[in-house]
Amino acid sequence: MTKRHILVTSALPNANGPIHLGHLFEHIQTDIWVRYQRMQGHECIYVCADDTHGTATMLEAEKKGIVAEAYIAEIKASHEQDFSEFSISYDNYYSTHSSENEAYCTEIFHALEEAGQIKEKAVEQLFDPEKNLFLADRFIVGRCPKCNTEDQYGDNCEACGATYAATDLIDPKSKISGATPVLKSSTHIFFTLSNFTDYLKEWTRSGTLQDQVANKLAEWLDVGLTDWDISRDAPYFGIEIPGYPEKYFYVWMDAPIGYIASFKNWCDRTNTALVNDYWSQDSNYEVHHFIGKDIINFHALFWPAILKCAGYRTPTRIHTHGFVNLKGQKMSKSRNTVVNANTFAKHLNPEFLRYYYATKLSNSIDDNDINMEDLVQKVNSDLVGKVVNIASRCAGFIKKQFQGKLASAAGTELIAEFIDKKPILEAHYEAGDFSKAVREIMAMADKANQYIAENEPWAKIKIPGNEADVHQVCSDGINMFKIIIGYLKPIVPNLAKKSEAFLNIEAMDWQSIDSPLFDHEINKFKALLIRADGKDVDSMLAEAAGPDVETEAKVSGKKSKAANDRTSEKADDKLGEIEFDDFAKVDLRVVTIINAEEVEGADKLLRLTLDLGDETRNVFAGIKSAYTPAQLIGKQTVMVANLKPRKMKFGLSEGMVLAAGPGGRDLFILEPHKGAKAGMKVT
Ligand code: MSP
Ligand code: ZN
Repeated sequence: MTKRHILVTSALPNANGPIHLGHLFEHIQTDIWVRYQRMQGHECIYVCADDTHGTATMLEAEKKGIVAEAYIAEIKASHEQDFSEFSISYDNYYSTHSSENEAYCTEIFHALEEAGQIKEKAVEQLFDPEKNLFLADRFIVGRCPKCNTEDQYGDNCEACGATYAATDLIDPKSKISGATPVLKSSTHIFFTLSNFTDYLKEWTRSGTLQDQVANKLAEWLDVGLTDWDISRDAPYFGIEIPGYPEKYFYVWMDAPIGYIASFKNWCDRTNTALVNDYWSQDSNYEVHHFIGKDIINFHALFWPAILKCAGYRTPTRIHTHGFVNLKGQKMSKSRNTVVNANTFAKHLNPEFLRYYYATKLSNSIDDNDINMEDLVQKVNSDLVGKVVNIASRCAGFIKKQFQGKLASAAGTELIAEFIDKKPILEAHYEAGDFSKAVREIMAMADKANQYIAENEPWAKIKIPGNEADVHQVCSDGINMFKIIIGYLKPIVPNLAKKSEAFLNIEAMDWQSIDSPLFDHEINKFKALLIRADGKDVDSMLAEAAGPDVETEAKVSGKKSKAANDRTSEKADDKLGEIEFDDFAKVDLRVVTIINAEEVEGADKLLRLTLDLGDETRNVFAGIKSAYTPAQLIGKQTVMVANLKPRKMKFGLSEGMVLAAGPGGRDLFILEPHKGAKAGMKVT
């Protein structure tokens, strides 16, 4: 087989918080693929970095009273620590805030200029006069120009679903200083992406992407691409654009270039001159990006166009995955459904997560439901109950009765059968279909256990004259165990390492999986894996939910009276209070959501059919960013039943459902306590 040369990346995590189970889904997927390629003997270099630039970093550091460099250094150290707990085997973990990245950004920008694909254009934008800062949409709030709802972001209204420009907001305010923003014009620098529409139409169908992804991108490509604004005004934590004082590269411009920069840094550290071999236009080497589906436009449209235009090669393959949802819920900080990597590692063996994710990973970009009871069950029944069990059933006899020496030949066809499965496993590993690989491997483990059970070495050994038979069966068991562990090695490298020590063999590569152990002495068997314990899951989830939940429970339990007193005190000196009669006018009702569906042509809206007990209502709710229709159907919520019906573009909306939260993913419909019935009045 010819040796491949492969450079692999995972998306660069934002330097704005800890690594969580969502990031790990991607990095574990990448790492399994990388370890498999390395076992095959290919050159496989895996690089990553923190994505550090942008206004958010700047403001966050300011809030903490430290310089941005110190802030990102702190975060990077914690990210590296978390990833190492999960055995992610990067060759280099770097930062986009580096001299290498600056050098590549500069060089690439000059190449784009020379190609005539850089354009200046004046852009009018809202500006915070107190902070002296141009404001991105998410840093502006105001009243919706359509429905007048307060506190809406600068791009769309969460209440009515309208989309608009930030300049259309009524009474806009800067989220950073509270100041009223003013319109200000500034020159921005654009990459003429529109010239690359045809190129990208072809490129996205060249076998680089999963079909699901190419189809999604076709939706954008069919309308035609607009030019891409790659600049941001000072102050900005980022890389300055050469020749344009006070202008910085937009973070999404410098982040993918960070892949090359991290690789370059590795080359320099290890004295390997491979940058051109991998990145020149005519390279035969491979570049693979692993990313989530939320960032495909950056990787499969902007990035290849930039590379192509600047005279670099484009990626060989982009492996896109879906999101992981914990028990059907999107992971979100405010919902307390984020589980951080270090919380998991504190309570449970990180390799459990690697195995569990492998059982979920496929070539699809659909989302994946995960839950920890399922994880415990899979780990215990597969890894402990099936795989390790083979070794533990056989090892004792070999050690005690046969001086640790295995038999000199195979006694079952199964061994050859397992080896024959190799090409199938290779295909699954290559395609990233790890769940299929696991299924094949567990079927082998079942067969191995069955073989041992049928031959009952524990019974036979008691009858003199059966020694050779027992020796053979147990040796076969150990040989089957070895093959199974070899196949699982990219997924569970630590279990494999312990197993190799027990088997008394060199570290296996893909080739040596099938060299049998005949007349070979094994070591004493020690527990290779401790079962997953449901109690550890409980304490892990309790810690992940954080102390907030506890205090809240306490407040609502014991201290509720004091808490009530405090609230009413506060309400007294608040302006804008209403009379009880005003409140009584609002007819709030418990309803059951009997249907929910997407609305064609509306990004934010779901059409809900609400049951009020004796009638049904049609309501459009701007909650699509937080819920899928399936998550809503059957749930109860609360609606304003006497709101004047409103004619919307999509039909008549007969009321409003109540939801809380800042918006986007963090939007929560209100649910009444168990026992409430549809139609009940909320008082
Ligand atoms: N900084 C950018 C990537 C720049 S690459 C040049 C970014 N960072 S991120 O921290 O928000 O996300 C990093 C990766 O983690 C993305 O690929 C994203 O899809 C993935 N995930 C974040 N949350 C996730 C889940 N809940 N589930 C699966 N993957 C998710 O985007
Ligand atoms: Zn609105």
